[in-house]
Amino acid sequence: MVISRIEDLARTRGVDCEVILVGSAARGTWLSGDHDLDIFIGVSEGSSLLPALEIARCVSPKFEERYAEHAYVHAIFEGFELDIVPCYLVETASKILSAVDRTPFHNRYVSRKIKGLEDDVLLLKQFMKGIGVYGSELKVGGFSGYLAELLVIRYGSFLGVMEKAAIWRPGEMIDLEDHSSLDHEDPLVMVDPVDPGRNVAAALTLDKMFQFVAASRLFFEVPDLEFFFPSPIQPLSDQEILEHIAKRKSTLILLEFAAPDLVEDVVFPQLRKAEQSIRALFDRNCFLVLRSDADWHRGVSPELCDMGGSENSELCGVIRMLFELEVASLPRIERRVGPPVWAAEHAKKFVSSHLEPLSGPYVEDGQLVVEVARKFVEASELLRSQMTSLSLGRHLGPELRRGYKIYLGQEILEIRDLEFRVFMARYFSARQKVC
Ligand code: UTP
Ligand code: MN
Ligand code: MN
Repeated sequence: MVISRIEDLARTRGVDCEVILVGSAARGTWLSGDHDLDIFIGVSEGSSLLPALEIARCVSPKFEERYAEHAYVHAIFEGFELDIVPCYLVETASKILSAVDRTPFHNRYVSRKIKGLEDDVLLLKQFMKGIGVYGSELKVGGFSGYLAELLVIRYGSFLGVMEKAAIWRPGEMIDLEDHSSLDHEDPLVMVDPVDPGRNVAAALTLDKMFQFVAASRLFFEVPDLEFFFPSPIQPLSDQEILEHIAKRKSTLILLEFAAPDLVEDVVFPQLRKAEQSIRALFDRNCFLVLRSDADWHRGVSPELCDMGGSENSELCGVIRMLFELEVASLPRIERRVGPPVWAAEHAKKFVSSHLEPLSGPYVEDGQLVVEVARKFVEASELLRSQMTSLSLGRHLGPELRRGYKIYLGQEILEIRDLEFRVFMARYFSARQKVC
């Protein structure tokens, strides 16, 4: 099939290479419903990767080029999603030139050890997927397929992994080949059996690791199919959103802007960074943030058209960031506590930088205090006025400056987009399978 097609392409072009099927499809650890084939085109060290990339571009007319450490092709072919990755064939995995050169070694290692354990890997992957911790992409920060396979190899079965995971602590270390050559500080360390210097679990966040731990424990108490196949979250109706708002009596502020035309692994770290900057802005100005969340909604939403986003924003969708604050507005008056009176220099500076307070300066507990007029009494006003001076990420910053929309409280009902309504359902419930 595809493999021989690529081999033919290479032959006609006179390119010397080895076409290898790697990843879960090569190991029988492929979740049904996922149609991803990982095909590597290996060339010898010292030659160029370009002819291999050229071949990758010719496999299917439906393709796009993506960029990880170096370029590869993502194509659709006969209903399958293909990752076609040029790589170097090196002697050992510690001599790689790029991270992808390690993959053929992974493939050989797992293929050798996984015989008979395939179903256990599938159970583990589906469990992880069901509770939302599967995938090493930056959006998820969870367990990669390779990591799941190594866990099953280490503990012998799906239940074996679950039993051990239930008692994991941060800093857990697993070294299958007993050859670790590095100190890692990650929450989970799975020393790569083919490369002693690398942690396979480097992308796993502390939270995803312990979501898995908490779910494993609960699973032994209540072994339920829901873990593997959770019922889909229903989008909230206007009525339901209003009920949540009425019960919480907090302030919701939603920021919406056109998404840039970039891959998720580039966008999500910037998204989290922007979310943190905005949270910090609110907190600095005494608007306490209860919780926040952000996501990228791909559905075309009519709001977009009058937002003046980038040219292809209709294709890229929108980014939405939600902030839940304890209050929407604060009193005009604000107390500022200064240095102790005995720090004469500082005290003087403090007084001269608050020349026209509404009250004070006066001494309280030995310190200077003034009461001044706060600049922003409305949280949304604060956000609007400071938006351009925040650090919002290399690509998100410009996108935000081009145009954005802020929805306050019930105004979010204007957003009819079902993806958004599911996002809100997930936000309000925030329920994970724990304990
Ligand atoms: P995939 O992301 O396609 O994973 O990466 P997979 O093992 O095939 O699992 P699923 O079933 O598609 O989800 C293909 C290969 O790239 C390497 C691994 O060798 C993996 O098998 N890889 C990928 C990593 O080493 N680390 C990663 O974070 C991702
Ligand atoms: Mn795969
Ligand atoms: Mn893949």
